[in-house]
Amino acid sequence: MIQLFKNLFASKGNAVKDLSALRVDMHSHLAPGIDDGSKSAEESVALIKALRELGYEQFITTPHVMQDYYRNTPETIGNAVNQIKAKLKEEGLKIPLSFAAEYYSDENLTKLCAADNLLTFGNKMVLFELSYINEPVEIKSLIFDMKIKGYKPVLAHPERYTYYYNDFRKYEELFDFEVVFQLNLGSLIGAYSPMAKKIAEKLIERNMISLVGTDTHNLNHVRSFQRVLESKPLAKLIDSGRLMNQSLAV
Ligand SMILES: [Fe+2]
Repeated sequence: MIQLFKNLFASKGNAVKDLSALRVDMHSHLAPGIDDGSKSAEESVALIKALRELGYEQFITTPHVMQDYYRNTPETIGNAVNQIKAKLKEEGLKIPLSFAAEYYSDENLTKLCAADNLLTFGNKMVLFELSYINEPVEIKSLIFDMKIKGYKPVLAHPERYTYYYNDFRKYEELFDFEVVFQLNLGSLIGAYSPMAKKIAEKLIERNMISLVGTDTHNLNHVRSFQRVLESKPLAKLIDSGRLMNQSLAV
């Protein structure tokens, strides 16, 4: 019985009370109607309010840019974000909101990089994602090209790429290549798969995670984050002091 109380106490001590230590969410799909995230400015504001209740204060939203599905540009994204800003203003809410993009690693990304035309956040950081099916053959040269142009590549949710699961050295190679790893909050509660959770925890254990994002697409995502507060690896990650989320605040 004493041991049980001790265990209960220990788990409480290792949980976080809210997500205010992260302060800035730098990965979400809040811009209405331009990808698979929010469908209206009203929904976007509801998502922002729900994320604020969890402790977030500022948002850098990152709509998909994907040659085959979401041909977004700085203009389409800027216009959609302006709709949210207008709605926030109507409601008298002053919430810092800016945008970048989540670039899918396709030919379009290579072209935009060559043309110096990528949307960035923080210190020239570029959020990019990989195929879920195969490791892109050109990944190393893509990263190299981004670095040459002075961009800082940020790999979205490394824990979700199944083709790396059996070869952790692949993660180490990317990390040594100065790719910043951004973990998805949902991975810590097994939202994607038990294996993604395991890899997420291993990346935290190895001190390889520098950014955390919500990757919010809808209200169900945000509601599920309540359970993340119990995650001991998250508490460890926040305590590690290596997260850069706060430094993105304006
Ligand atoms: Fe995303």
